[in-house]
Amino acid sequence: MSSYTDPAQLGEQLFPVYKRWDIAFKEAAGSFITGQDGTQYIDLMSGIGVTSLGHCHPAVTRAVEDQLHKGWHGSNFFQYEGQANTADLLTKHSCGDLVLFVNSGTEANEAAIKLARKHTGRQKIISFVQSFHGRTYGSMAATGQDSIHQGFGPKLEGFEYIPYNNVNELEKAIDDTTAAVLVEVVQGEGGVIPGEESFLTTAERLAKEKGALFMVDEIQTGLGRTGAFFAHQHYNLTPDIITTAKALGNGFPTGAVIGKEKLKDAFGPGSHGSTFGGNPLAMAAAEATLTTLIEENWIEEAASKGEKCFSAIEQLIGPLPNVKEVRGKGLMIGIELTEPAADYIKEVQKKGVLVIGAGPNVIRLLPPLTIEWDTLMKGIEAVKAVLEK
Ligand SMILES: Cc1ncc(COP(=O)(O)O)c(C=O)c1O
Repeated sequence: MSSYTDPAQLGEQLFPVYKRWDIAFKEAAGSFITGQDGTQYIDLMSGIGVTSLGHCHPAVTRAVEDQLHKGWHGSNFFQYEGQANTADLLTKHSCGDLVLFVNSGTEANEAAIKLARKHTGRQKIISFVQSFHGRTYGSMAATGQDSIHQGFGPKLEGFEYIPYNNVNELEKAIDDTTAAVLVEVVQGEGGVIPGEESFLTTAERLAKEKGALFMVDEIQTGLGRTGAFFAHQHYNLTPDIITTAKALGNGFPTGAVIGKEKLKDAFGPGSHGSTFGGNPLAMAAAEATLTTLIEENWIEEAASKGEKCFSAIEQLIGPLPNVKEVRGKGLMIGIELTEPAADYIKEVQKKGVLVIGAGPNVIRLLPPLTIEWDTLMKGIEAVKAVLEK
């Protein structure tokens, strides 16, 4: 067992798939994370859009604690009350009818791609340049970033990437071999790029006209992050499939595919599955997270706080010479710089504030929806101070 010495040496036995920071996580509560050296950080990233209710939200903690004493795992041959309740909440607050529980975002997209192909009997999946949908073979193939495909051998066939927000290119690509169009309402990893309303509504219309499924990846944008339960609801879209994960368990790993009733036959017994998907602990976390989000009005709060926060950033940070654009929706905000963001992000950390990148030049803010206004502003002031230097 390693004991804490120097964060640079922690985890030498781990594959270096992440450029880890020099911060060793000790504990977290609400909008703060404390390092092993005692430094307290304001969290403006929520574990990459996960802990939307803040760390260790009491209602979620209580629900998981209760379930810990009632059984951790039975298998999906059992009927689980937690799955039924969580599915009920997800379908009540979306246009979907049926839910499949998985363990992560990539698995949700993997399942969605399989479901689209099986249902339509077609192969082509259209997604977008700079999109991010995950790291497994299907979701990686759907990801429109070459750097993510590199070195992993033959890519799963049948994927086409169209420039985002480009209706003409989409019109050319979509045809009667298209199984699905898969889109993020705001591209997250690609640089916090909001989809234009006309592009999103046309994508839905074209998909439906061609008999393809319209699938929305809400893994980062969903569950209140943009100020709506799902971001596509800002534009009255009615996707055939919605994928969600990240914030669903407020940090407890879980994800889901939400689909229309018409897809039921394509995912009959034996067609897909997951040993852990919808596990009782995950469902306890998800049900408590969703109930809290809804009953405590955190989604409305994200909309109003997001607007206020966006204006503050536009005013304080927007005019700086190294800032190209401020964009986003709700509490998903990107600050595009005229130069790489990585060094600035490190400097912001040194001021005790955690933000992340999105693409090479963007500083991304994904604060907890529950963050106190003063704490949020303190974090934004720190970003400003660093960018001003
Ligand atoms: C839009 C989107 N889709 C899919 C994923 C993959 O999710 P996970 O890391 O849970 O597999 C992510 C993760 O960043 C994401 O932002």
